[in-house]
Amino acid sequence: MAYFAVLWRHKQISLTELQLVKPSNLTTHGQIVIFDTETPDLISQLGGIIKRGTTTILWDLLAQYNILATDVDNSDDETTDESNKSLSWLPSIVGTNSRILGKYLKQSGFTRRFKELTLDHSDREVQDKGVELILIHSNESIDESVIIGRVTHYQDIDLFSAVDYDKPSAGMGIGMMPAKLTLMMINIARAQYETNHVVKSEYTIYDPFCGFGTTNFLANAMWYDTIWSDLNGSLIKPNLVWRNTHARHTQHRFTSFKHDATQPITKPFVKHTDMIVTEWRLWPVVTQRLMPKVAHHQLTQIGQVYCNFLTQVDTYFDDITICMTVPVYQFYDDVIWPMIEDVLYDDKSRTITPIPQVYSRKWQYVTRQILVLQKYSR
Ligand SMILES: C[S@@+](CC[C@H](N)C(=O)[O-])C[C@H]1O[C@@H](n2cnc3c(N)ncnc32)[C@H](O)[C@@H]1O
Repeated sequence: MAYFAVLWRHKQISLTELQLVKPSNLTTHGQIVIFDTETPDLISQLGGIIKRGTTTILWDLLAQYNILATDVDNSDDETTDESNKSLSWLPSIVGTNSRILGKYLKQSGFTRRFKELTLDHSDREVQDKGVELILIHSNESIDESVIIGRVTHYQDIDLFSAVDYDKPSAGMGIGMMPAKLTLMMINIARAQYETNHVVKSEYTIYDPFCGFGTTNFLANAMWYDTIWSDLNGSLIKPNLVWRNTHARHTQHRFTSFKHDATQPITKPFVKHTDMIVTEWRLWPVVTQRLMPKVAHHQLTQIGQVYCNFLTQVDTYFDDITICMTVPVYQFYDDVIWPMIEDVLYDDKSRTITPIPQVYSRKWQYVTRQILVLQKYSR
């Protein structure tokens, strides 16, 4: 069976995350991908997929409901046909990205009504009462051999919105990670881990700059054990109470310790870590132009924290997978990345893969470069 997925607007990041399900026979059609996988259960964990499902050809879909394609009247008439009303066992409404497909299905008696939906949006009425069918190849004409994607799942907006907006302690202004991006980073880290190691049934994810705990809440919601540390636990503290009552938390471990990530790690339990997923900070969010000298000084300080942190991680772990972001500031020469490259590239026991697309938001002057690092035991 072939699966399809509508990718989120950061397509390269979504495609990198999709590697978690080891897609084969992958083809892309604009924002849509079709693929096979031997681990379809994992598709539901992906954050960068807006909607997904299985593919079929139109003929098979209609045949399932004993609707013969030869009965279809191709006229433009959109009025509701009385005979269609009696077909209550068919979806009363179809959501579709294609008006031509919608008309075809209506005239064939498959549905009484259709709604045009863009690929990026979902519709409550369609989800509750009908079905969403996506025309994958944007042909101008419809025949029975066209490939249709039947949507079976939508992105987990409730989870993203709980982690982004419901937790009592939050602060986008100082660079809290968006939940969706964080989930994708966890999956990117796991995909990297699983290409180099024997697949495990349980994983531990560590965020050494946990801030408000975004990584940890997402990791826990996905049934992973998680470790968090920070120089200062005051940002996450109010969220811990919320976690017990409102967050989608599981019984998996949620372990903490106070720690300066630029200093040696001494706690033995941190060795359980399989993957580090983290972002130190974006701020000071550059909303105004600084004098070049001041900007350079600030960026050097930020870069130094990243370098010291990576050096400590290297000393402590023989083998570790990291997915982290590095800020890339507009208007300023790139100071941080060359500093980090200096630390990382001097060691041959590591691979470094920058994802070939930065994560950006319209109103921010700083974008995020996602790095995937893999250190191997020597
Ligand atoms: C912007 S927050 C991170 C937000 C986090 N990514 C989130 O989404 O919730 C930065 C955090 O780094 C912590 N921090 C700063 N310097 C640190 C250091 N040297 N070691 C550990 N934590 C540090 C701060 O206390 C702060 O909580």
